[in-house]
Amino acid sequence: MKGIILAGGKGTRLRPLTHTGAKQAIPVANKPIICYVIEDLVAAGIREIGIIVGYTSERIQSLKDTIGDEKKYGAKITYIEQDAPKGIAHAVYCAKDFIGGEPFVVYLGDNMLENGIKSFVQEFSCSKADASILLTPVENPSMYGVAYLDGKGNISKVEEKPANPSSNKAIIGVYLFTKAIFQVIPNLKPSKRGELEITDAIEGLLKQGSRVIPHVVEGWWDDTGTPEAILSVNKKVLEGKMKAEMKGTVEKGAVLSGKVGIGEGTEIDADTKITGPAIIGKNCRIKNSHIGPNVSIGDDCILQNAKISSSLILEGAKITYNAAISDSIIGKNTQILSDGKKAARIIIGENSTIIL
Ligand code: DAU
Repeated sequence: MKGIILAGGKGTRLRPLTHTGAKQAIPVANKPIICYVIEDLVAAGIREIGIIVGYTSERIQSLKDTIGDEKKYGAKITYIEQDAPKGIAHAVYCAKDFIGGEPFVVYLGDNMLENGIKSFVQEFSCSKADASILLTPVENPSMYGVAYLDGKGNISKVEEKPANPSSNKAIIGVYLFTKAIFQVIPNLKPSKRGELEITDAIEGLLKQGSRVIPHVVEGWWDDTGTPEAILSVNKKVLEGKMKAEMKGTVEKGAVLSGKVGIGEGTEIDADTKITGPAIIGKNCRIKNSHIGPNVSIGDDCILQNAKISSSLILEGAKITYNAAISDSIIGKNTQILSDGKKAARIIIGENSTIIL
């Protein structure tokens, strides 16, 4: 089987982080989301992966830089351009030649699953179905594609973001298809949001009598499309799959508790307290600070007198602001400094949020 990862789209709900890079490149526990997706596909035995990228050449390059050398994943990676974000079904159709008639997995590049996809891939390759979809009960189904199951557990209908769904089963952004999907997509009409919806393509398969099998997944799943979702996934990954390696230098007197990972070349001074789960990248300088729980700090950051919990601090950030910072995402090379004056002084880019 082959795999495709969708890494196009605009990422509007994550601006300003997505002005300069793709949302799939945002790191969770110091690893870009798309890297978890590639690893999940490889763990399921997939060795040929197409990544759908779009928008601008800078964005494509930045995604390639994020993913880095494909050899480290043990899979062959092909970049496939989508001329504009015309919908998930359109993006899938862009990969038709790459897929070349084989069954395949579509993995939305902003989705993360606690337990991976291996068992679903194995089951699909032995089945005679034309599609398999993964479902999970949610409190707010109208934000997602929704599946309706009949009394026997078969799918009777799927719908994209219905206003008042009578089902709470959200469709997760991982789909398994045979080439049958490529006959349905050309017949789709743009939805209300002007996109070719993958949910409509699946409904097309159902209407023509193709077999579509549902699976309710165990463990957590998240669509990391909003800052809140990214922070929530960061917490879950730090608590779960994050490997806590201790490579930096910790001065005597510093208090570390719980699961804490510290990267090479990082120095933690004696007056710092770190409460896990937390991860700190390479070559950081941390002085007189209180970090954690649920904090990820990227490489080359400087923190002095900082108090940070439940947050993501991306690489190259400098924080000397001494009041508590919580539930925050601080972009690359951003500075939050204290100068001892009472009034705040703010120089900030467009589409930013500050809650004081
Ligand atoms: O996360 C699960 C949900 O994903 C499903 O429940 C929905 O049925 C499905 O439509 C999708 O909804 P979203 O509104 O969250 O999709 P979004 O626009 O965020 O795009 C999902 C991914 O696909 C994201 O990584 C960007 C990529 N994408 C999106 C579009 C519209 C592309 O590569 N090309 C595109 O044209």
